[in-house]
Amino acid sequence: MKSASILALLSLVSLGMALLPASHAAKPGWATTNGTRFSIDSQTAYLAGTNSYWIGFLTSNTDVDSVLDHISTSGLKILRVWGFNDVTNKPSSGTVWFQYLSSSGSQINTGSNGLQRLDYVVQSAEKRGVKLIINFVNNWGDYGGMPAYVTAFGGTKESWYTNSAAQTQYRKYISAVVARYVNSSAIFAWELANESRCNGCSTDVIYNWATSTSAYIRSLDPSHMITLGDEGFGLPGATSYPYQTSEGVDFVKNLGIKDLDFGTFHLYPSSWSVSNSFGTAWVKDHAAACKKAGKPCLLEEYGVATDHCTVEKPWQQASLDLATQGMGGDMFWQWGDKLSTGQSPNDGNTVYYGSSDAQCLVGDHVKAMKQAP
Ligand SMILES: *[C@@H]1O[C@H](CO)[C@@H](O)[C@H](O)[C@H]1NC(C)=O
Ligand SMILES: *[C@@H]1O[C@H](CO)[C@@H](O)[C@H](O)[C@H]1NC(C)=O
Ligand SMILES: *[C@@H]1O[C@H](CO)[C@@H](O)[C@H](O)[C@H]1NC(C)=O
Repeated sequence: MKSASILALLSLVSLGMALLPASHAAKPGWATTNGTRFSIDSQTAYLAGTNSYWIGFLTSNTDVDSVLDHISTSGLKILRVWGFNDVTNKPSSGTVWFQYLSSSGSQINTGSNGLQRLDYVVQSAEKRGVKLIINFVNNWGDYGGMPAYVTAFGGTKESWYTNSAAQTQYRKYISAVVARYVNSSAIFAWELANESRCNGCSTDVIYNWATSTSAYIRSLDPSHMITLGDEGFGLPGATSYPYQTSEGVDFVKNLGIKDLDFGTFHLYPSSWSVSNSFGTAWVKDHAAACKKAGKPCLLEEYGVATDHCTVEKPWQQASLDLATQGMGGDMFWQWGDKLSTGQSPNDGNTVYYGSSDAQCLVGDHVKAMKQAP
């Protein structure tokens, strides 16, 4: 090749690099992808984490700090928290809420019983090197979610994705939250929704919504990662539920969305009426799809009501075994701890700090991760 064309090629390469989303050109210390793996603090490694939907709703800073101390000293790197708390009636003072939804004027609560509680979680996580996944809406009615938007703006849960009043307010909310933490090293990723589903819909509905919403978030924040937060339905491997697309989700198609940096999936055999042993193939099939797409997969929620250690250990192992083959990390549902008000919520799946379950699913897992490639 002539040197002039090499120069032309080189300038094309550097132009291409400049055009890549900045999440691929990490700021020092920030979470990013590295092929099918994650990198934080400039180290590429398999990551473990957990979920706490309630930490942003606590009113005691001491409780927030103590939970994050326990999480970080346990070796967990990622914490998924609820970035939404939608209401259609304003609660009495003292109860935390983030957004009031109404067709005659919605309101984002930036007060001390509003987003200032989430601010404290972000600050505390930043000090401890814990990285947060913050999501913007729930598919389900817990803490408002899409059903609260439907109450305020009409339509159905299936039309939520294309309802312009609902989407306008959803974007206002996203923009308010992203603006607060756009410069924070504590953000692992922004997440569009918890478990978006559109039952019986064409998979284009969620695909189109995820494409335009992720592009919108990228326009507000060029550097942090963005993900969907879905359960991972709709992929090759089997033809039975939940491999098919009946919930309107096509995992493989969604992985191709430019502004989504990694794929998410969940694992709840009992809710899906499959056996617990279903989990291992579910992990492998997602890893294969992520490897093909060249993006990491994150098993971001998994849980079972009894025998936590016996049932979930093989899932963790299956994921860790694929650490260089598509799996970037895993996060069990959900973290349990002792708060000043008593024990944190127990939905049966909770793994409490200091328990023998925590030894198995956190202590032993973190140790095994350190031996992994
Ligand atoms: C990305 O991973 C490769 C190995 O696969 C490693 O050599 C490189 O240092 C990693 N980059 C970052 C930024 O961690
Ligand atoms: C997100 O969805 C899962 C599955 O239904 C559920 O376990 C979790 O509680 C949801 N989050 C909230 C706070 O509703
Ligand atoms: C984030 O950083 C940019 C550039 O330094 C600055 O203009 C902006 O005000 C910062 N935002 C916040 C919320 O601190």
